[in-house]
Amino acid sequence: MTPDNLIPALRDIVGAAHVLTGDACIEFETDWRQRVRGKAYCVVRPACTAEVAKVMRACAQAGVSIVPQGGNTGLVEGSVPNADGEQIILSLRRMQAVRAIDLANMTVTVEAGCVLQSLQEAVHEAGLLFPLSLGAEGSCTIGGNLATNAGGTQVVRYGNARELCLGLEVVLADGQVWEGLQGLRKDNTGYDLRNLFIGSEGTLGIITAATLRLYPQPAAQLTAWAAVPSLEAATALLALSHRHLSSALTGFEVMNQGALKLVDAHYPHLRVPMWRETMWCVLLEASDSESEAHARARFEHLLQTAMEDDIVTDAIIAENIRQAHDLWHIRESITLAQAAEGLNIKHDVSVPISRIPEFVAQTDAQLQALAPGVRLINFGHLGDGNLHYNMQAPAGADAAAFIAAHEAAISDAVYQAVHRFGGSISAEHGIGALKRDKLPHYKTPVALQLMRTIKQALDPQCLLNPGRVLAAEPTQ
Ligand code: FAD
Ligand code: MLT
Ligand code: ZN
Repeated sequence: MTPDNLIPALRDIVGAAHVLTGDACIEFETDWRQRVRGKAYCVVRPACTAEVAKVMRACAQAGVSIVPQGGNTGLVEGSVPNADGEQIILSLRRMQAVRAIDLANMTVTVEAGCVLQSLQEAVHEAGLLFPLSLGAEGSCTIGGNLATNAGGTQVVRYGNARELCLGLEVVLADGQVWEGLQGLRKDNTGYDLRNLFIGSEGTLGIITAATLRLYPQPAAQLTAWAAVPSLEAATALLALSHRHLSSALTGFEVMNQGALKLVDAHYPHLRVPMWRETMWCVLLEASDSESEAHARARFEHLLQTAMEDDIVTDAIIAENIRQAHDLWHIRESITLAQAAEGLNIKHDVSVPISRIPEFVAQTDAQLQALAPGVRLINFGHLGDGNLHYNMQAPAGADAAAFIAAHEAAISDAVYQAVHRFGGSISAEHGIGALKRDKLPHYKTPVALQLMRTIKQALDPQCLLNPGRVLAAEPTQ
């Protein structure tokens, strides 16, 4: 097999209609943020695990590298190829089947290309809950969620994708299939292979299916929106919410005025509450196993106590599911409002929750000195210590020119601050190509060497998403 006869070989494996070339590849070649435009050798769309395995074997023989792609909603430039036209995009989107729901084991086994929302709906119909939830759920896939160890808005209660996964099926770089789909909650038979692949961003293997943990549906779910006078107050409200609601606290999101102002500007029909009067708003969700009345009484007591303690200045509890949905929609629209406003800078960081207010106060001041007028769009999953500490160019400025002039210095300042505060430069989006060259500054040499050793062992030809997470040199 050589690169020249690879395309006919791929056509034999998946059918000619599922090997795309030329302009047919365009929709797969640009990342969601429109920051990178790659060029694919071709896009190949297998229908089953056996086809993925054959594709991998053919690519390994030809020495051609593969970029796995699910919904292409990743935010770190990990799911699109280089510009050289030599990489194949392996799209998992045709592999969408929900293979089985095991009600007694409370698990679902699903193919990697299944869209997250479709899985949520299938599980809901079966009377259970798959709690992973994020703004891109209408188009991101389970394979992408696991490959990035996605977080989202329910992590405070249910954990991130890793915690929700009990088993994987993975096609390795040489085309072998690791069948690890047992839905076991206990299995201490050696190294944890599953957790090696979760979060590996397509650099160690192709996830083709997963067995995932399910939960009972709550009897009631309530959403509240609160104005808080400061970020200190928001963290105090989080601690109070944990005490009052315990495991019923299923969401705790924070949004600064800059973020909500953008949503108001681009989507005025969403009628963002309270944003003009306060610098910070919080979105809380409680899921109750008893009843709506029980949930409401607990929520009201929490918010009343918070007001007496002066950590909440104003609050509303959604009256019905429609209102709750509208409040969540405002929160989920921040990323879209940022995109609509223009090119922007993202930092998906985590810091110990107790240190977040000090981190933000110091770093805000530093950035305003570094790039006067920069708009700080700060929001995220405060319940997990995860901020989307994002930036927009000053109002009226040329965003592309601003980013070219300031992004490097701004990001270095943010990541150095994150490091000083004992945090992580990627809380939930991953490393991709965007943060690859930052990683060596924030991981120890021992950690990096271990990562390279694992990469070499699993992908000695460096064919799986080269240049993502780690630099691209072949590892042998
Ligand atoms: P893709 O973008 O296609 O791929 C992402 C990475 O995974 C790439 O490196 C790719 O090569 C690899 N990959 C994809 N499929 C496979 C596979 N089957 N096997 C191996 N590797 C694979 N992320 C969060 O964590 N939390 C959020 O709250 C959140 N909110 C978002 C909101 C919006 C509006 C958007 C656009 C994105 C958001 N994201 C969030 C980021 C993104 O949705 C997640 O990273 C998601 O998990 C990516 O899934 P995907 O199917 O789109 O993956
Ligand atoms: C979100 O939580 O909305 C996304 O992860 C954040 C982002 O777009 O930066
Ligand atoms: Zn997020």
